[in-house]
Amino acid sequence: MITPLIEYSNNLLVKMEIFNASGNHKVRAARQIISSGIERGEIVPNETTVIEKTGGNFGFGLISACQEFNVDLHLAVSLGFSKIKRQCLENLGATLIGKDLLAGGKTPKEVVEYPIENQESMERKYFFTDQFNNIDSLNGHINTTGPEIANQLKKITDRKDIYFVSCAGTGASLMGINEALSREGYSVEVCLVEPDGCNSKDNTFTDHRFEGMSVGVVPPFIKWEVIKDHTFVNQQRMLDAKKKFFLEYGQFLGNTSSACFHVASEALKREPDRPTLMIAYDHGLWYPEMVSKN
Ligand SMILES: Cc1ncc(COP(=O)(O)O)c(C=O)c1O
Repeated sequence: MITPLIEYSNNLLVKMEIFNASGNHKVRAARQIISSGIERGEIVPNETTVIEKTGGNFGFGLISACQEFNVDLHLAVSLGFSKIKRQCLENLGATLIGKDLLAGGKTPKEVVEYPIENQESMERKYFFTDQFNNIDSLNGHINTTGPEIANQLKKITDRKDIYFVSCAGTGASLMGINEALSREGYSVEVCLVEPDGCNSKDNTFTDHRFEGMSVGVVPPFIKWEVIKDHTFVNQQRMLDAKKKFFLEYGQFLGNTSSACFHVASEALKREPDRPTLMIAYDHGLWYPEMVSKN
């Protein structure tokens, strides 16, 4: 499906992935991974079980993609994810595996390893989507998100220089969009946003609540020469931005999108005439505990 690119205020362009199937941008990677797996014969609909260790947005994207292509989905979801998220994943059609093992201290990685390594004795055929190492994560954005944005930009502005404010988990959306826009003749300046205390380039990570970005590994798809600016946002600024976006534009953005909105707003103060692009990755209602003090 094509999600809207909305010009919320002069030159603030927001790609509304919160309106995508399953409510976020990760469905792009999920759909590409599943459809390519089917094309290569590695996934057989109604036969293969797709397996992944995630309870985040990629899990929701996979539910949507697996239902579209008639494939069963097993997820190992860390107990660190909120109960409501785990319940929703189940209600929407995923089977959550290894609950007892996880409660006993096993990691989601260990939980998915066993079935993958013992397919024969379990009499099941598994396909591990492996989003951090699967090139189709990137291809999903090169083939869909990026070209959509390029087409939509043409209708909004004649300018070819775009400031793209983005964060990275795998780095697939950042790199895929950058690649597709560059192919369409755009000159893209990418700003990578991270939470204070994290620096993916140096492999430095701290605990934070910006779920989905700076996830504890260097984003595998990032090519660092593409990153022109690198900006760090603290929790209060992110929360203030979330509030501002809701009050001004009526959408309750997730934490990563709110951090990007803060950085995009600052960039527009410096260069109001340059189109500044950001992604509304997901919805803020997943993060209700994030309430700002003031
Ligand atoms: C809310 C949110 N924002 C940003 C990202 C980063 O996306 P990508 O993996 O394409 O870098 C993710 C990834 O899971 C996410 O869930």
